[in-house]
Amino acid sequence: MNTIIRKIDKDNIDEETIRQAGQIIRQGGLVAFPTETVYGLGADALQKEAALHIYAAKGRPSDNPLIVHIAELDALDDIVTEVPDKARLLAEQFWPGPLTMILNKSGLVPYETTGGLDTVAVRMPSHPVALALIRESGGYIAAPSANTSGRPSPTMAEHVAEDLSGRIDMLLDGGMVGIGLESTIVDLSGEIPVILRPGAVTQNMLSEIIGEVQMDRGLIAADSGIRPKAPGMKYRHYAPKAQLTVVEGAPDNVVRTIGSLAQELEEDKVGIICVQEHLPEYEYGIVKCIGSLEDETAIARNLYGILRDFDQSGVECIYSEAFDTPNMGQAIMNRLLKAAGQSRINV
Ligand code: TXA
Ligand code: MG
Repeated sequence: MNTIIRKIDKDNIDEETIRQAGQIIRQGGLVAFPTETVYGLGADALQKEAALHIYAAKGRPSDNPLIVHIAELDALDDIVTEVPDKARLLAEQFWPGPLTMILNKSGLVPYETTGGLDTVAVRMPSHPVALALIRESGGYIAAPSANTSGRPSPTMAEHVAEDLSGRIDMLLDGGMVGIGLESTIVDLSGEIPVILRPGAVTQNMLSEIIGEVQMDRGLIAADSGIRPKAPGMKYRHYAPKAQLTVVEGAPDNVVRTIGSLAQELEEDKVGIICVQEHLPEYEYGIVKCIGSLEDETAIARNLYGILRDFDQSGVECIYSEAFDTPNMGQAIMNRLLKAAGQSRINV
C-alpha cells in the first residue's frame, strides 16, 4: 500500500485534503491525523471492519479498546446509553480537549471498536484538523495513537511515517502536536469516577467540577501487580531498546548519581535525559535536554521524541531525571516509569 502524505496547516485547512481523507475513512480506510495530544490513527468507529484494520496496522491486541472521537456534543447521545450529569459537566468544561470519558455504550458502537467491552471511550479533541476530519467522515472516528503497538506515541508526522508508512492509506502532517502525552482517561461508568490514565486534565481539575475522583489502584501502585482497569495500561507499553532507569531525589544527588553511573559505561553507550538547568553539569555520555524545569509543557511535549531518538542512537543504558512538575508531573512520570519498566532509584 502506498501511503499518501499531505501537509496540512491547522490555521488554513485545505478543504480538498480533508474531503479526500474523509472519503477514505467513510470507505473503511485508515488516516493518521494530528490531535492536540498525539497523532491518532483514524477509522470509522461504527464500521466493524474498519476497526479491525486499525488493529492489524498497529499490530495491536484486539482486546485493547479504541477511543471514539467526536466533533459535536450531540454526537455523544447516540453512542452511549445515557450521559450522566457528571459526564455532561466535564464535557462542558473540558471539551474540546485532552479528556476521554468511559461511558456505557449503545448498540450503535460495534464490539470491534470497544475490544468486546460494554463501555466506550469518547473524546472530543480540540485540534482543528481532527475536528474537520471527524465532521467530514460522518462524525465518529475510532483512533488509537498512531504508533506501532509497543512504541512511544507519535508527536510528529515523521514518527507516524517511521512506524506505519505503507500500512495506512493517508497521513495528514500537521507538524508537532501541542501537548505530547495522551489524554486523561476517566471512567464514569461506575458510581465514583476513576482516572485510568493521567494526562493534561488533572485529578484536581476534575474534582473541582464533579467532586470526588479516584485514581485507579493499578496506577498508583504500578509495580504492585494490581491489574490496571484500562486494558491498554496493562501492557508494558513501550520499552526503549536501551535499559531506562529513572533517578529521583534531591536535585544535587540526582545529578551526582547519574554522573557517576554514566561513567561505568563507554561514553557513546550511555544516554542521559535532564532538564535544561542541569545540562552544564553533565560532561559524559549522550545528553538530551527535555526542557526547562519551569516549563512542564515542554517536558511533556519532548518526552516521546527523545525516547525515539535514543532508540536510533545505539545507547545501551539511559538514565533520566524524575520530572515531578506541579500539574503534568503525574502524567509525565506515569509514561516515563512505564517506559522504564518501573526501574527507579531514589537518592
Ligand atoms: O490522547 C489520546 O487519547 C490519543 C489521541 C489519538 O486521541 N489516543 C490514545 O489512544 O491514546 P490509545 O488507543 O493509544 O489509548 C486508549 C486507551 C487504552 O489504554 C485503552 O485500553 C483505553 O484507552 N480504553 C479505551 N476504551 C476503554 C474502555 N471502554 N474501558 C477502559 N479503557 C479503555
Ligand atoms: Mg497508544
